[in-house]
Amino acid sequence: MSVSASAENSRSGLLPIVVLASGRGSNLQALIDARDAGALPVEICGVLSDKPKCQALQRARDAGIPTFALSARDYADRASFDQALFARIAEFSPRLIVLAGFMRILDPTVVAAFAGRMINIHPSLLPKYPGLHTHQRALDAGDEKHGSSVHIVTPTLDAGPVIAQAQITIQADDNAETLAARLLPLEHRLLCACIALIARDRIQLAADDWCYDGQHLQRPLQLGADGELSSR
Ligand code: GRF
Repeated sequence: MSVSASAENSRSGLLPIVVLASGRGSNLQALIDARDAGALPVEICGVLSDKPKCQALQRARDAGIPTFALSARDYADRASFDQALFARIAEFSPRLIVLAGFMRILDPTVVAAFAGRMINIHPSLLPKYPGLHTHQRALDAGDEKHGSSVHIVTPTLDAGPVIAQAQITIQADDNAETLAARLLPLEHRLLCACIALIARDRIQLAADDWCYDGQHLQRPLQLGADGELSSR
């Protein structure tokens, strides 16, 4: 099953999504704010976390969104944790699952069960720098550009097809903190713009593939200064 503006969604006009987060939750907050501003036609059905005390859950509670948390230490292994987490997610009947700072590797079984219905935001210009410490790795490599990517989640970490990217130029005096701080507002716009296009059925997702207005593109959509995604 792929994500599209199904009959079910078009009745309310809102795409039902679930957000997974582990920490600060600034991307979640950007989604909430865009939704409230009428710029993001989604229903945020639930926010789930592996960190019961994280700020993301508090942001969700403040916004009146149902939350659910589980601790890895209560489960014997990754597979049983993920099965419990995704059983709870399924109860929300989301059409799209958004990993927004969710800091766990997912078991391939649950990824397969939601193939083509799960996206992640990652702070690098994938395929460069999957995993952690992306800002420092871009600096260490002497890169001119850095950025963030939204991609389809597949069983291999940060390796699914990249749908859209935001880019910044690395300055001579940048360090990992300044890069992260400059990138974060763009990440927020990138994630909101990408989900808005999915909700409006301009982007169609499949298990290992995506289309923009029904067309396969040669490269990811790019975030412009106007906050919009384009194929240029
Ligand atoms: C973001 O940089 C995102 O790209 C990465 O984790 C961070 C989450 O930030 N996956 P926040 O918790 O949304 O503030």
